[in-house]
Amino acid sequence: MIAPIQGFSKLTKEEKINWITDHYTHNTEEAKKIIKGYWNADQDLQKLHDEFIENTITNYYLPLGIAPNFLINNKLYAIPMAIEESSVVAAASKTAKFWLDRGGFKTTVLGTEKIGQVHFMFSGDVQKLQAFFTQVKPRLISEAKDITKNMEKRGGGVSNIELRNLTSKLPNYFQLHCTFETLDAMGANFINSCLEEFSKTFRNEAKIFSLFSSEEKNIEIVMSILSNYVPNCLVRAEVSCPVSELTDSGDDALKFAEKMVQAIAIAKVDPHRAVTHNKGVMNGIDAVILATGNDFRAVEAGVHAYAAKQGSYTSLTHATIENGLFRLWIEVPLALGTVGGLTNLHPLVKLALEILQKPSATKLMEIVAVAGLAQNFAAVRSLVTTGIQEGHMKMHLLNILNQLDATEKEKQTLTEHFKKNTATHSAVVEAFENLRKS
Ligand code: MEV
Repeated sequence: MIAPIQGFSKLTKEEKINWITDHYTHNTEEAKKIIKGYWNADQDLQKLHDEFIENTITNYYLPLGIAPNFLINNKLYAIPMAIEESSVVAAASKTAKFWLDRGGFKTTVLGTEKIGQVHFMFSGDVQKLQAFFTQVKPRLISEAKDITKNMEKRGGGVSNIELRNLTSKLPNYFQLHCTFETLDAMGANFINSCLEEFSKTFRNEAKIFSLFSSEEKNIEIVMSILSNYVPNCLVRAEVSCPVSELTDSGDDALKFAEKMVQAIAIAKVDPHRAVTHNKGVMNGIDAVILATGNDFRAVEAGVHAYAAKQGSYTSLTHATIENGLFRLWIEVPLALGTVGGLTNLHPLVKLALEILQKPSATKLMEIVAVAGLAQNFAAVRSLVTTGIQEGHMKMHLLNILNQLDATEKEKQTLTEHFKKNTATHSAVVEAFENLRKS
């Protein structure tokens, strides 16, 4: 058994690599070669990456692709996407082109409210707690001025603080439910700093509130933290066109539109389908979020909570056919930033934001929602027509050929071959082996 290590973080990078490869890999030299093969030759750039997290040994690459031709509110965007799944950027580009010829995407930001909570326990008289809260609320805000003043100068800050009684769910459990406007910042640090200040003031002021008994004066703060569930930080993206324009020849357009609507109706009522349906949406959303240095875990958690807000997990997208018009739309909560965090630090994130024409946080919400909607359209369109594997395997073909160590010439020949033949994993291996034999 491998013994635990003390003080790993204090080792140099080289020592960390020696330790991990000695203890956890079979071929130490090969493992070191892989690790170092991903180091950046530019030492300053490598140092920047080393310092993003603790115990960095190397970099982990994902491809950064571009999906051009996205017409959003009559402005053209080329969207950077960081993702490993082979078909996603291709599908986004194809969908962008499809809707470019049909009026493009329309988006609206429905709200930008961020949320944070101070969770605390109080076992005394609830009316006295209410009176205390009413008295202390202005002070909670004024004591946090050092933290909020710059945000306020720019038009943001604390929007409200509410006392919430949740004792019916958990004995003695209350919250300060706080809402914020954080403008172009995602705002996690701002919100958490505010909340910690609120909780300090709240606890200290309770100690001297004259109506409280000595026991009531001891409010027990459990924790202060932002919520990644932001149902009022919401954006809507939509596409629509006459049903007759949904297919290039106009043939079978109504059948296609009906199948799209049916597929979405299925995702609305069946959670198993809804999860996969929304996974397709997240293919687009996460890829842009990663490319722009935002926190995809926060967005994932919040989006899925939103999809379950009615008590059962359901589709994030909606579709109708009304008076001959097909409409597909999405509403998603997205707490994003275009300043702060990685946005000023990671050179590729800066570049991605530049490619997006330096968007505000609300503009980025719109672009990300469009990427999610586009991905959903592409996936459901394939599912209800050719099936997903045709396009998927075409894109995956190169991965399989790379695994087989195919030469460039062999890749060319087999890519040609699979333009006319169905590409399954075994068919590719067989065709490759036959080509080698011949
Ligand atoms: C695959 O990454 C995404 C899909 O499964 C989405 C869907 O089923 O809607 C194709």
